[in-house]
Amino acid sequence: MKLENPHTGALTLEHFWMPYTANRQFKQAPRLLARAKDMHYYTPDGREVLDGTAGLWCVNAGHCREPIVAAIQKQAATMDFAPTFQMGHPLVFEAATAVAHVTPDGMDRIFFTNSGSECADTAMKIALAYHRARGEASRRIIIGRERGYHGSNFGGTSAGGIPGNRKSFPGVVSIVDHLRSTHDWARNAYSKGMPKHGVEFAEELERIVGLHDASNVAAVIIEPVAGSTGVLIPPQGYLDRIREICTKHGILLIFDEVITGFGRLGDPFAADFFGVRPDILCMAKAINNASVPMGAVAVDNGIHDAIVDAAPEGAIEFMHGYTYSGHPLAAAAVVATQKLYREEHLFQRAALLSPYFEEAVHSLRGTRHVIDIRNLEMIAGIELEPRPGAPGSRAYETFVKCFEWGVLIRITGDIIALSPPLIIEKPHIDRIVETIRDALKTVD
Ligand SMILES: Cc1ncc(COP(=O)(O)O)c(C=O)c1O
Repeated sequence: MKLENPHTGALTLEHFWMPYTANRQFKQAPRLLARAKDMHYYTPDGREVLDGTAGLWCVNAGHCREPIVAAIQKQAATMDFAPTFQMGHPLVFEAATAVAHVTPDGMDRIFFTNSGSECADTAMKIALAYHRARGEASRRIIIGRERGYHGSNFGGTSAGGIPGNRKSFPGVVSIVDHLRSTHDWARNAYSKGMPKHGVEFAEELERIVGLHDASNVAAVIIEPVAGSTGVLIPPQGYLDRIREICTKHGILLIFDEVITGFGRLGDPFAADFFGVRPDILCMAKAINNASVPMGAVAVDNGIHDAIVDAAPEGAIEFMHGYTYSGHPLAAAAVVATQKLYREEHLFQRAALLSPYFEEAVHSLRGTRHVIDIRNLEMIAGIELEPRPGAPGSRAYETFVKCFEWGVLIRITGDIIALSPPLIIEKPHIDRIVETIRDALKTVD
């Protein structure tokens, strides 16, 4: 398929093998975005599309914000790349300090990666390295959760709980087990905020730990709010109980905050919002407003020290890293983004706006096809009844219809997930909700 390209005259689609995309379907009828500013994308023919998803849960400050753009441009002209293996550059230390400024107390050792997927694998390696450094090398099992998403690398795919992602790579990383998902539609449908029922699902951790013996279990990795599998909000008390059980057995708790980090819940992290402190915390996406690929793992200082102090003087303490860990452009963007979040009080803004967002999305209750609506702060999920024999097709058609009508939503299976930039205004919220309502009326 050929499209017009302003630079070359023609755009060829077949060479880019697109991620998590039905490539053949897309290339028959492509949806392209060419430009973005604040709350909107613009298609190559100039059509405005309101962003209801902050890109992919990542552009929390809105698109192409001047201070971030300027910082990246300046850095690109000053120093494009510098290694961080046995070398450093000032900006990467500044970026780590800016991140440490917002991480939970005592979790201010920051390891940079380039993505959420790399964070998950890095966090699991840190957990194993920690236990080994303390003479408990038998602790190797990682416990994830059904319907968890920790990215696409082997570790994250294995600890994750999405059957479709795992089925082509069975047992690649075999040191994993899984808790059940906390989703309980029968008891919790149409919950506003944290659902009432399901704290008891945390007790399953005791069963799994008992099965393997705590002396073999390294860590539990969970998303505080599962996003990619359809906005699954933890039941009241659940995360506290998981924390207690981990502490009791000497198991590290890893929070994957790749979507909940940086204001999505009105606080810097879900750990702050829920008042539950993990031992290791993964973040990416909004760390620099998604302007340059970057992720980071924040580590409890004691865990960091145990690994570092166990190594002989002069030795590399943790044999792990990426060429682009702390890339200068990404680091410049982190510093500028964190400053912008502070100056615009964007996290507080999200908290103030969330009751309006909640009421607006719940007004879709009773709309054709809707079987559940759930939300927490600036995240919402709207679940549709699947078509018999064609799961996902109803949500996909709704997504296409909304895009045609100028609103970008995200779908996962038959669930619409909303996570707008935190600069959103009330009329934008109304527009997103009304467009979904109208689209659902036209979709069979
Ligand atoms: C919770 C969570 N972890 C990890 C990832 C993977 O991040 P990335 O796509 O940057 O590798 C995602 C992506 O959406 C995510 O939501």
